[in-house]
Amino acid sequence: MRASRGFYGMLALVAVTITSVMFISGPSGGAGDGYNSLAQLPPHPAPPRRKMSKPRPRFGIGRRFENTYNRIDTPGKHVTEILQKVNSAVGRDLQILRQDPQLEGKIPAAKQIVIVTTWRSGSTFMEAFFDSHPAMFDIYEPLSQFGLQRARNGAQAAQAQALITDLLQCKYESIKYLDKIKVIDSMMDPTVHSFCNKSMWREDTCLHPEFLSKACQFFPWKILKIVRMDLGLLKPFLESPVSSDLRIIYLVRDPRAVIHSRRATVTWCKPTSVECYFPSVLCQDMDNDLESFKTLKKLYPDRIHLLRYEDFMNDVSNMARNVTQWVGLTYTTSMEKFIEIHTSKEQNKPWTTSRKSKEHLLHWTRNMSSTDLVEVQDACADTMTNFGYKLVNGTKNLSLKDVLNEIIIDL
Ligand SMILES: *[C@@H]1O[C@H](CO)[C@@H](O)[C@H](O)[C@H]1NC(C)=O
Ligand SMILES: *[C@@H]1O[C@H](CO)[C@@H](O)[C@H](O)[C@H]1NC(C)=O
Ligand SMILES: *[C@@H]1O[C@H](CO)[C@@H](O)[C@H](O)[C@H]1NC(C)=O
Ligand SMILES: *[C@@H]1O[C@H](CO)[C@@H](O)[C@H](O)[C@H]1NC(C)=O
Ligand SMILES: *[C@@H]1O[C@H](CO)[C@@H](O)[C@H](O)[C@H]1NC(C)=O
Repeated sequence: MRASRGFYGMLALVAVTITSVMFISGPSGGAGDGYNSLAQLPPHPAPPRRKMSKPRPRFGIGRRFENTYNRIDTPGKHVTEILQKVNSAVGRDLQILRQDPQLEGKIPAAKQIVIVTTWRSGSTFMEAFFDSHPAMFDIYEPLSQFGLQRARNGAQAAQAQALITDLLQCKYESIKYLDKIKVIDSMMDPTVHSFCNKSMWREDTCLHPEFLSKACQFFPWKILKIVRMDLGLLKPFLESPVSSDLRIIYLVRDPRAVIHSRRATVTWCKPTSVECYFPSVLCQDMDNDLESFKTLKKLYPDRIHLLRYEDFMNDVSNMARNVTQWVGLTYTTSMEKFIEIHTSKEQNKPWTTSRKSKEHLLHWTRNMSSTDLVEVQDACADTMTNFGYKLVNGTKNLSLKDVLNEIIIDL
């Protein structure tokens, strides 16, 4: 807990009031008053038969477009036509789902799945995995606009909560968010994206708030990942009776692997980016999140789940099934296929065969410099112990059992 929370809580309140966002809460809790109804189950579209469009996995940044966003009030003439296509696609997905033997004809209830973690912790894989469920709408990281900054308190926290509230309700009103989608097209849900060709990638069509809002409402299930926010800031979402279909997966990864990945495998994490470069920041955030997790788990045991990336990857097909059932969905044939493809074929990706996935979990032990190792373990010793990561004296010849304990969280 940071000392200035009370003060920032006040600031947040002021900010919320000023922007007249109907969502009031501080990180340390408080009733989530004003959190309005979530997206209701969409009208079930007519279901003609055709093969489900294959989910387009999107790892990495997408194509960039250069046009400039200007808010345009009236949607263009193609919007209705594209919406119809999206609606039919969802209809086909639902039809496929009804025929999936594992569902035995039962369609699960509407659900919103939120993955909360930090950069380089496996969230892209988890998000794409859930998105392989038919008729799942992918809400890409709402907080990308924060850059390499994490919302913890104050006005930024209020802004983050407001944005998430909006997007979970299919409200696309943030110009900043729309601006992001405009330049990073892979932020758009892949199904919707597949009906938006380059000439429709316009402010009055595929980037129009009304278009996105309506398209979003066709989907019964939503997946949202967040890598730039304290877990505790989601408390009001669990408190609100109208968001009873929200499930939180708190995803955690070994800080050594996270720091190694940030420093060695991406270019954007530089020593000047304090928030991502330093293990002390990472582990302080993990400590805070663990406390929030305990609080929320006690209050809402069925709504929040702690998942270690290592446990997931170490037994990927069983864990994929397990976590899917935990959120209240059925492990569909398409999800099974996703896991099969992404853990066997793409040899150069982190998630290769299950044997390879396990090897990948130890990648950092083969490549991390001893200075980095010492730095992380010094800054993170307690955090690592709490999450069941074992300290090591060196990186030579380690196996998973040398670095991983069972995780035991005392609530
Ligand atoms: C792009 O999509 C619009 C609307 O669906 C369609 O009218 C147009 O022909 C498409 N253009 C191309 C080049 O495919
Ligand atoms: C599967 O999930 C349940 C929670 O739904 C958990 O209690 C159980 O330990 C999990 N099994 C494995 C093998 O992780
Ligand atoms: C890590 O891998 C990179 C590229 O494969 C290599 O250049 C570097 O020397 C390695 N570092 C260590 C400490 O092994
Ligand atoms: C690391 O070194 C310390 C001191 O030499 C020793 O007590 C400890 O058992 C070692 N740990 C491992 C995992 O080898
Ligand atoms: C590596 O560890 C395994 C057991 O974990 C052991 O059998 C093997 O001899 C070790 N290799 C080296 C080079 O130390």
